[in-house]
Amino acid sequence: MFNLVLFGPPGSGKGTQSENIVTTYNLHHISTGDLLRDEVSRHTPLGTEAKKYMDQGMLVPDEVVIGMISSKIDETPDARGFVFDGFPRTRTQAEALDKLLEFKQTKIHLVLSLDVPEPELIKRLVSRGETSGRSDDTEEVITKRIKEYHLKTQPVANYYFGSGKLETVTGNHTVTDTFKALSKQINKYILPI
Ligand code: AP5
Ligand code: MG
Repeated sequence: MFNLVLFGPPGSGKGTQSENIVTTYNLHHISTGDLLRDEVSRHTPLGTEAKKYMDQGMLVPDEVVIGMISSKIDETPDARGFVFDGFPRTRTQAEALDKLLEFKQTKIHLVLSLDVPEPELIKRLVSRGETSGRSDDTEEVITKRIKEYHLKTQPVANYYFGSGKLETVTGNHTVTDTFKALSKQINKYILPI
């Protein structure tokens, strides 16, 4: 098994690059943002609760996302591995993920952190907001999401740096060039299928 965390601020390209990675390496994509938006669109109790936080650009409580991840991992026991996109976002989530994977006798092998300057992040998300319909893609909420990232999520990088799993990749090139840089790191562990 090979398990990857794709790490980085809002708009850094985690979702875009995850799509390419899961196809190329036959991995399973788990995006907590996508899972939460699905809950919101189905008006489930979890979705209704999560929406209150998402609309304000704040993180949804840890116990909610950890529970979601746990059942998602269990759905595909035969996966070649997982790409975690937008998770973990707090140290508590990172520790919970380690425990979940340990229970399955596996672990996080690599954390790839996408580095993109803040003005570019804002530009990308404002531009996507013109068509995406995402309620959190307004300049006001984007700014809050980035603030929340610096406050609560960026420290998670130290957690992985400490265990020697963190590699930083420039995410400010074209989608293709960024994918090449990510692949170079992944190829040290598994090869494309
Ligand atoms: P989530 O859905 O995870 O959003 P995010 O990380 O804030 O940001 P995005 O998903 O918008 O950015 P991305 O890095 O995936 O970039 P993308 O590829 O889309 O989370 C949303 C909310 O859900 C959170 O605020 C929180 O409330 C909640 N939540 C989710 N997970 C949670 C968790 N674990 N714990 C607690 N709460 C959680 O690209 C962005 C744009 O840029 C696109 O238009 C794309 O086409 C473009 N683009 C991508 N790459 C490039 C490039 N190289 N050059 C030019 N444009 C590019
Ligand atoms: Mg995303």
